[in-house]
Amino acid sequence: MTVSKVFAISGSLRAGSHNTLLLHAARKFTPGDMEIEIFDGLREIPPYDRDLDNPEDRPAVVNDLRRRVLEADGLLIATPEYNHSVPGVLKNAIDWLSTDWSGTEGRPLHRKPTAVVGAAPANLGSVRAQLALRQVFAGTETDVVVKPEVLVFRSHERFDAEGNLTDETAVGLLQGILTALQDKIDADRARRQAA
Ligand code: FNR
Repeated sequence: MTVSKVFAISGSLRAGSHNTLLLHAARKFTPGDMEIEIFDGLREIPPYDRDLDNPEDRPAVVNDLRRRVLEADGLLIATPEYNHSVPGVLKNAIDWLSTDWSGTEGRPLHRKPTAVVGAAPANLGSVRAQLALRQVFAGTETDVVVKPEVLVFRSHERFDAEGNLTDETAVGLLQGILTALQDKIDADRARRQAA
């Protein structure tokens, strides 16, 4: 069986972030043939600069991030909601992942099978950020899972003191979206093999 490699990014830099905890829960509840690696370098990604956005001039951390996304079979993004939208640090990284001005490298997000989840203490559970992120992913032509939607609302009630996701509904939705992501990865693999 081919193991699918999924690269995961949390849009929160906060220690104890519910969105980062959600990614750790995803690692625990993956379908058997999926490995999830959680990115821990978002804080180091500099502001997007078009003048530097070519292979020779990009900061090494950006080239490394682009390579890791290009090599991954799929992406998993956990987004907080900041002021009804996507946190700037996450959007900034997405901008660096969206381009290939030389036409030789490949656009890391182009057609990448991707699942979006999110957590927020409020009752809307990051829905506006997730919708904003879907709009961004239309721009990058990213292949985003449509359903199920994983909106972990009242997120402070969903994890135990050790940070484990204990809410059964949320666990079921997380498993559902990972299965849907696996389906997209399988379809993408078949498409590329047929090409
Ligand atoms: C927030 N938060 C928030 N929540 C929400 O539901 N809608 C919103 O528009 C906002 N706006 C917002 C702006 C800023 C600057 C901050 C810092 C926070 C609250 C946010 O959902 C909460 O802090 C989450 O816990 C953030 O996710 P992590 O860090 O737990 O992953």
